[in-house]
Amino acid sequence: MNIPCNATIANDLDVFGKISNDLQTQGFSINPLGIPRDIADALHFHLTHMPNEKFNHAGIGREQDFDKDDTIRGDEICWVLGDSIAGQQWLRWCDDLKQHLNRRLFLGLFSFESHFAHYPPQAFYQRHVDAFHGDKNRVLSVVLYLNKDWQAQDGGELVLYKNEQDVDGIKVIPELGTLVVFLSEEFPHEVLPATKNRLSIAGWYRVNGSHEHKVDPPN
Ligand code: OGA
Ligand code: MN
Repeated sequence: MNIPCNATIANDLDVFGKISNDLQTQGFSINPLGIPRDIADALHFHLTHMPNEKFNHAGIGREQDFDKDDTIRGDEICWVLGDSIAGQQWLRWCDDLKQHLNRRLFLGLFSFESHFAHYPPQAFYQRHVDAFHGDKNRVLSVVLYLNKDWQAQDGGELVLYKNEQDVDGIKVIPELGTLVVFLSEEFPHEVLPATKNRLSIAGWYRVNGSHEHKVDPPN
């Protein structure tokens, strides 16, 4: 019988436990093999076979102030709507993570949205934060990388900065299965240009900001 090497197994409970510990102690968590390999493979297959027309050039800001600017971000995105098996597996996994984090850390995570992202060669995303202080909206960011056999010289690292002043960020190679989670308001980050096509999923958990006059998030 072939017993698979431990290093290749991503056990959900182990990973969820590590993520919640990391969030509690440092506010971010970087996990090579962060998601079960079969889900990473299914997403990789799905994304590499998706027709180009499904992707839209990503904008900055939401709705009315939606703006497309290559000098800030050059990726093309497609929202994960759960209309594919791979997309459904991803959304289910993210929901399991949500439940775990809500039990362990009382984060009150409510809804989740995510998009596939394709960065063509040389595209980048300038240093930014995913949510602003006091804007009780996006509280937790998740990024999953979907590139097979990525080499250090291919570039395209995520650089995660520990605070606004930090200039020496932590570089993460966007290799298939690597999962990064961080508090959306706390960690500025950027995507460096790559020499190759770079694939990822970026997602955000929100708290429920609804009150009498406004339903937020809308669904
Ligand atoms: C984002 C983002 C990081 C990445 O979409 O907001 O920061 O590595 N993505 O794809
Ligand atoms: Mn971001």
